Amino acid sequence: MQKFKITVLRGDGIGPEIVESALRVLGRVEDLFGVRFEREEGLIGGAAIDETGDPLPEDTLSKCKDSQAVLLGAVGGYKWDDLPTDKRPEKGLLRIRKELDLYANLRPAKVWEPLIHSSPLREEVVKGTDMLVVRELTSGIYYGEPRGIFEEDGKRVGINTMRYTEDEIRRVVRKAFEIAGKRRKKLTSVDKSNVLEVSALWKEVVEEVSKDFPDIELEHLYVDNCAMQIVRRPNTFDVVVTGNIFGDILSDEAGVVVGSLGMLPSASVGEKYALYEPVHGSAPDIAGKGVANPIATVLSLAMMLKYSFGMDEAAELVEEAIDKTLAQGYRTPDIYSEGTKKVGTSEITDKIIENMEG
Ligand code: IPM
Ligand code: MG
Repeated sequence: MQKFKITVLRGDGIGPEIVESALRVLGRVEDLFGVRFEREEGLIGGAAIDETGDPLPEDTLSKCKDSQAVLLGAVGGYKWDDLPTDKRPEKGLLRIRKELDLYANLRPAKVWEPLIHSSPLREEVVKGTDMLVVRELTSGIYYGEPRGIFEEDGKRVGINTMRYTEDEIRRVVRKAFEIAGKRRKKLTSVDKSNVLEVSALWKEVVEEVSKDFPDIELEHLYVDNCAMQIVRRPNTFDVVVTGNIFGDILSDEAGVVVGSLGMLPSASVGEKYALYEPVHGSAPDIAGKGVANPIATVLSLAMMLKYSFGMDEAAELVEEAIDKTLAQGYRTPDIYSEGTKKVGTSEITDKIIENMEG
């Protein structure tokens, strides 16, 4: 039997519950496809701070480096909100991305036909939307130096630095072109090159890379305009590539446009490692109540099957099972609408598993 090794980081808030759902789905995949996933658990985020004082303990990092893929729930919560920025649970997430060099963050946002009415946009605007945001994840303003809160002439000043080297831009842009080539062959690059030098360089590098991909249609949008076009004409986008902070913002927007943040998976990939996690956060307000929507995490698992293990068929089976479950009317509270059946985390997971037939 084929054996794989993954690291599971449940994290905080609803993290443990939604990861549990994904692991149950993974169990079904193991049975159906005759493969075995060995699972190592590690601590991250607030849970790791409580236990070890560090949001990303060395032990967790070495487990991740010793496995073929990482599945992560979510980090953060009220309990740790008062800690300084560099001691917060989120720092664990930022460090793991950097340490594993996961420079390309893939965030697909597509309309699920049964959920089209949960979009805040009119059906005819959002219909057919199927986009993928490729967000640069290990550089830009999230990591640039200098950073900090300093004192100048007796007044505080806050500083962050948006910085990209041409190599950092090139590798993520190249990845986005490659992905666009396997989809509808359209790439939108998003920047703020009318104001920022770092963006002018971004655009220049995109133009250079585009020469190697003559069959991909390329458009450049300023980030403010792009934010507007995503609500005006979401179904005209295919792949969108952008820097770290613009991608953070636009991927939330794309997510809400297609219906629910609870449905959005992501894959963060580098040359060597890959990590899969839902786009949404740890939702501490509903943690432990058994009502969290596990679908984004289950879809992240499907991305893992596809990108890390080449199990395209298994990934499709999971996605189809989710489609069926939604078509049967099952909904967690965040995607509930009148006339559908409201269920909790474990019930919707049961339905998804039932709908996975070999
Ligand atoms: C995300 C989140 C994170 C980010 C936070 C929690 C650090 O918003 O993954 O989009 O900004 O990258
Ligand atoms: Mg975000």
